Amino acid sequence: MSNPEDSQRDVPRLFIPGPVEVEDSILQAMTRPMIGHRAPEFSVLGEELHTNSQRLFRTKDPVYVLTSSGTGGMETAARCGVRENVLCFVNGAFSQRFFKVCASNGKNATRVDVPWGQAVKPELVREELSKGDYDAVTIVHNETSTGVMNPLAEIAEVVADFPDVFLLVDAITSAGAVPIHFDSLPPIDYLVTGSQKALAIPPGLALLAVSERALERAETIENRGMYFDVLAMHKSWKKHQTPSTPTIAVMQALKDRLRMILADEDAWFGAHQQKANRVREWATDSFGLFAEPGYESVSLTCIENTRGMSIADLNGFLREHGMFLSNGYGDLKEKTFRITHMGAISMADTEQLLGLIDEFVGKS
Ligand SMILES: Cc1ncc(COP(=O)(O)O)c(C=O)c1O
Repeated sequence: MSNPEDSQRDVPRLFIPGPVEVEDSILQAMTRPMIGHRAPEFSVLGEELHTNSQRLFRTKDPVYVLTSSGTGGMETAARCGVRENVLCFVNGAFSQRFFKVCASNGKNATRVDVPWGQAVKPELVREELSKGDYDAVTIVHNETSTGVMNPLAEIAEVVADFPDVFLLVDAITSAGAVPIHFDSLPPIDYLVTGSQKALAIPPGLALLAVSERALERAETIENRGMYFDVLAMHKSWKKHQTPSTPTIAVMQALKDRLRMILADEDAWFGAHQQKANRVREWATDSFGLFAEPGYESVSLTCIENTRGMSIADLNGFLREHGMFLSNGYGDLKEKTFRITHMGAISMADTEQLLGLIDEFVGKS
């Protein structure tokens, strides 16, 4: 999946966890002629996107295509999915963001902190849910700041034992990197992903799967706002349209990407796993993994900077070779660095990156 135009490009290749590399053939889809978003041509595009998103998530529930980044999907879940009291599990920067999204939308949000690098365990979810009168729980499936993939199915199983509690899932950097079969999992009420992550197209879209009971609850919730009102999304979705003008060009890229993934899902998901395996193996030999064993992310690897090298200098060196990766997030800056397994980068590209890091380590 390497980009054939690589030799001609003048910007570094992205080994960061989003936006990710997009190959030319997908970028080209964005140059198709513009269409009117109330024209019949748009409904044809919309129908394909809706159907193929449902196929990807293995669900009969609607999957809305929002013109926003992933945070818009989180905001929809918070505004329309939480009645009053929400319990937010925080084990990194993005789960903290979900807590803030809930609180800033006027919900009574309670946070439960888990040390960064560790996973949220189902037993903890049960214990905390038993303590209060909550109507929703937030969880980030893949914590991009720490490289931890939380055990979603097990957590969903626990939440299912609390029938009035809705499960709101940020799958922004997991959906598309690992299979998520919405209808086979214990109930999930909102699940969101972003286009610039594992779906490997440019930023601008969020895909949001929503349960039937979540639509029923939304009817009873006031002040859902307008742009992120799930009921407005649903009304338009039935016509294969969107409530306001969408980013049609990125939708064209999504159309091609979904066709490509669905044509060979094993190859698509397998490639992520293979790159993750290779980087983990390398990182274990040369450094250390930040994630708790058994919960390492398939989407990216967060590596402990056990050698105390300057990650900023490493990135300077990598940039000279036409690529760059992510420094640690927030307090983890310089203490960790992150390599993505998402996007149009091949195993050979990944090997090249690892070779360059080895070369840098040898020099420093
Ligand atoms: C897990 C996770 N949640 C939320 C976000 C925010 O997404 P966006 O920037 O698309 O709004 C990110 C972005 O990196 C993320 O990785």
